[in-house]
Amino acid sequence: MARNVYGLDLGSYELKVYDKKNDVIWKEKDVIALKDGNEIYAVGDDAFMMYEKAPSNIEVVFPMKEGVISRFHGMQHLLQNLLKKDRQFARGSEYVVAVPTDVTEVEKKAFFDLVIHSTAKAKEVNIVERSIADAVGLNLDVQNTNGLLIANFGGETTEISIIAGGGMVMNRLLKIGGATFDQAVVNLVRHSHDFLIGRHTAEVLRKSFGIFTSEVESMLTVAGRDLITGVPMRKGISINLVRLAMKDPLIECVQAIQSLLERTPPEVRRAIHKNGIFLTGGIAHTAGLESYVEEMVGIQTRTSVEPDICAVTGLKKIIQSKELRKFAFSMIDENYRWMR
Ligand SMILES: Nc1ncnc2c1ncn2[C@@H]1O[C@H](COP(=O)(O)OP(=O)(O)OP(=O)(O)O)[C@@H](O)[C@H]1O
Ligand SMILES: [Mg+2]
Repeated sequence: MARNVYGLDLGSYELKVYDKKNDVIWKEKDVIALKDGNEIYAVGDDAFMMYEKAPSNIEVVFPMKEGVISRFHGMQHLLQNLLKKDRQFARGSEYVVAVPTDVTEVEKKAFFDLVIHSTAKAKEVNIVERSIADAVGLNLDVQNTNGLLIANFGGETTEISIIAGGGMVMNRLLKIGGATFDQAVVNLVRHSHDFLIGRHTAEVLRKSFGIFTSEVESMLTVAGRDLITGVPMRKGISINLVRLAMKDPLIECVQAIQSLLERTPPEVRRAIHKNGIFLTGGIAHTAGLESYVEEMVGIQTRTSVEPDICAVTGLKKIIQSKELRKFAFSMIDENYRWMR
């Protein structure tokens, strides 16, 4: 049996997988539910369903934190179980893993170790810088470009990258993402209404309201708990309150884009002004984000068609194309091979 190749983009919120044999991309929540401390009770979407609803002996955790692996064994277990679940799981497969650039070598190597030391018995593991995968997913010519800026707005991070001549010129990983926005909404709703909502409810509010579209008076009624009476109830939350909560973290992202641009060599910066800014990551679905970035930075901005799976779509193309394969590299040097 020919060995399979998997492309992996392990996000803090969702993991995305390309399975070459079946030529499909699938995604699942990057979540595990632990029973009585350490027994794995559920993984992926099944575990996420219990988030904020689980009984006290079940703890629902996200094994990735701010773009890097925080619970190594939990993450390994999750990945193995998902690859097995309803899917033909081929041992001895090859893996191409997208990794953030602006993290330590140890954090980067953990992505590699995760797969190579799993019971999946990987034959080969190669690494691709996630922004390069994003650029390939966007159909951009990474090799010949004279300047591109990609901002990946994810679940817990925002990664800003400047690419030119086939490589990374600048990169910054901000610890701001969907979870930051959700927490900001939870906090502001609590302060202004003495009303406690869950992070999941905050996400629903944020997704339905978007940002920066023309001012409208709009409300959404959601479930929560009144903090004065302690009674669960439903309350209308206004669009303006939710947008106000998102303002500060959004400004931080835009300022990071501006400061990275300021430090970019002038010829690359000029090319970015011409080529534009590209948005990827799940948060890029947010209505109005594109116009907001464009207005604040003053550079034409476009969003990937399917922003959350843009990087894994890039991995798919890298796996399928001989020419693009050069963007995947091995972390095994001779010493490391000997250590195994
Ligand atoms: N339609 C939508 N509108 C607004 N936000 C959305 C939408 N769909 C998904 N999101 C948000 O996108 C985020 C997840 O994006 P993504 O899958 O890119 O993150 P990730 O890759 O798991 O995280 P990271 O890259 O930070 O490690 C979540 O916060 C989710 O709420
Ligand atoms: Mg991501």
